[in-house]
Amino acid sequence: MKQVTFHQLKVFEVTARRGSFTRAAEELFLTQPTVSIQMKQLTKAVGLPLFEQVGKRLFLTDAGQELLATCQDIFERLDQFDMTIADLQGLKKGQLRLCVISTAKYVIPRLLGPFCRQYPGIEVSLSVTNHEQVLERLRENLDDLYIPSQAPEHLDVNCFAFMDNPLVVLASRQHPLAQKVNIPIAQLNGEDFIMRESGSGTRQAVEQLFERHNVAVNMRLELGSNEAIKQAVAGGLGISVLSRHCLALEGFSGQVITLDVEEFPIRRHWHVVYPKGKQLSVVAQTFFEYLQTQGKQVLAETANQDYLA
Ligand code: PGA
Repeated sequence: MKQVTFHQLKVFEVTARRGSFTRAAEELFLTQPTVSIQMKQLTKAVGLPLFEQVGKRLFLTDAGQELLATCQDIFERLDQFDMTIADLQGLKKGQLRLCVISTAKYVIPRLLGPFCRQYPGIEVSLSVTNHEQVLERLRENLDDLYIPSQAPEHLDVNCFAFMDNPLVVLASRQHPLAQKVNIPIAQLNGEDFIMRESGSGTRQAVEQLFERHNVAVNMRLELGSNEAIKQAVAGGLGISVLSRHCLALEGFSGQVITLDVEEFPIRRHWHVVYPKGKQLSVVAQTFFEYLQTQGKQVLAETANQDYLA
């Protein structure tokens, strides 16, 4: 491996990610034969094939997978080195990769506003997805920090809870239960219900609660988006259970209201998480500390402005 160049590793990483010499060449502004020659030389240095071609697509061999993981480690360490040098120069600079649960998208961007103003050199990329996918990305170490709404159970992680995420029953303002108080949970039996997709933490929490209380709702619709569910509830298709934060901007004045049902809200908390043993970059460490200090204050102020106080 001593003859391998940094450039070859870069070309390899892009080729592996794009699954084709042609697409890698496009991304790197090189010609296709240049990419292919670089990969030939790299394969020779490794001594084992790195790719196998099936149809038009390239797949990684076991040796290719190992090399890709090694390249990703090297590039990540170099990025961290860049950030450390910037930090030594008195600057906070670099990329922050966050992966947040769907419900946290109502809050995290508001926190990022003041954070990015304070550190203009930090570039943020935010992936928003459901519980299962957040855990999958955490296992694959794709991001710097993860925000799920329950602590991962079987993964070795550093984790702290930073905000409540109560799940409430939503209905349209015209729903027959809208004016009632202290509604027994059994009264949800047979109600038309709009459910999140499987893999969603909200769905898991709702199913567990309904199972404990033998509640059988009438599943009208399954939707993979909190916003679409809100619209379906407003349109009178049924009731649903979502995070109260999903109502953050419309507050209590909109078409969708919360029902006062026993056993609700289901209490959950957003956590900020990263794998134990992962060395956080300066930028990720800065955001981690921000969440525990100023971030909490920003959230408290936001909650005061919204109906959430
Ligand atoms: P999810 O979110 O349903 O998108 O997985 C879970 C939660 O915030 O509780």
